[in-house]
Amino acid sequence: MLPDDHELERLYAYPQMDRPWVRTNFVTTIDGAAYAVDGRSGSLGGADDTRVFALLRSLTDVIVVGAGTARAERYGPVKAGDIDSGLRARLGLATSPPIAIVSRRLDIPEALVSPGQLVITTSTASQSAIDRLRETIDVIAIGEERIDWPAVLAEFADRGWTRVLCEGGPSLHGDLVALDLVDEICLTIAPVLSAGDAPRIAHGDTPVEHAMVLGHALDADGVLLTRWVRDRTYTPAHV
Ligand SMILES: NC(=O)c1ccc[n+]([C@@H]2O[C@H](COP(=O)([O-])OP(=O)(O)OC[C@H]3O[C@@H](n4cnc5c(N)ncnc54)[C@H](OP(=O)(O)O)[C@@H]3O)[C@@H](O)[C@H]2O)c1
Repeated sequence: MLPDDHELERLYAYPQMDRPWVRTNFVTTIDGAAYAVDGRSGSLGGADDTRVFALLRSLTDVIVVGAGTARAERYGPVKAGDIDSGLRARLGLATSPPIAIVSRRLDIPEALVSPGQLVITTSTASQSAIDRLRETIDVIAIGEERIDWPAVLAEFADRGWTRVLCEGGPSLHGDLVALDLVDEICLTIAPVLSAGDAPRIAHGDTPVEHAMVLGHALDADGVLLTRWVRDRTYTPAHV
C-alpha cells in the first residue's frame, strides 16, 4: 500500500534549486517495455501509479512531452480535477501546469492548440506553422538542427519554472539522458512480463552511462514505485 498523501508529498518534493530540475516519469514492465500490448503505457501501473502520476503533475511548473506520446496518449491540457489545486496553492504554483509539447514536424494535436499551452521546436521548423501556432499558443523555437535544451531550460528559468516534469516518451527521454539533463527519474515497474518489441524508456543513438542513486522504492501491492536521482559525483572507471 502507498503511504498517505502527506508522506507521498514529502517523498516526491522537488529539491530547492536555483536552476530548473528535470524530473522524468515513466512506467515499464519487468522486462523493460515502455508500453503495453495496446501501444499505450497508461494501463500498466494501475491505480497507485495513477495516483503518483497526478501528484507529480500537481508538483510541477511545466509538463514536457514528446509529440509521439501526446499523439499516442491523446494528450490535452491538464484539467483542474486531475491535479491537487490545494497543494498547488500551498506551494505558490500556478493554477495548472502548461503542457509543453516537443515537435520538429509541428503536427500538434488540436486539443493542445489551446491558450496556456506551449510548443518547443527548432528555429528551422516551418515558419508558417510556427506563425499559425503563435496565433493561439506560445512557441519556444531554439536550436537549428536540434532543439537547444540548455537554452530551453534557461528560458524556463526566466519564466520562474524550476520544477520540470517530462512525461516522455522514449525518444525525447533518450535525447535528454544523452545530454545528461535528467536530474531524476520516477520509475514505476509493473509486475508484468511482455516480450515483444516495445522500446525501453530511453531510446536513442548515443549510449551513455550515467550513475543514479536510489531515492526511494515503494511496494504498492507488487507495483514498485521508485525514484532515482542523478549522482553527479560518480564517474565510471572506464570513462
Ligand atoms: N512507459 C511510459 O511511461 C511512457 C511514457 C511516455 C510515452 N510512452 C509511450 O511511448 C510511445 C511513443 O514513443 P516515442 O519515442 O515516439 O515518443 P516521444 O518521444 O514522445 O515522441 C517522439 C516525437 O516527439 C518529437 N520529439 C521528441 N524528441 C524531440 C526532440 N529532441 N526534438 C524535436 N522533436 C522531438 C518528434 O515529434 P514530431 O514527429 O512531431 O517532430 C518525435 O517524432 C507511445 O506508445 C507512448 O505510449 C510510454
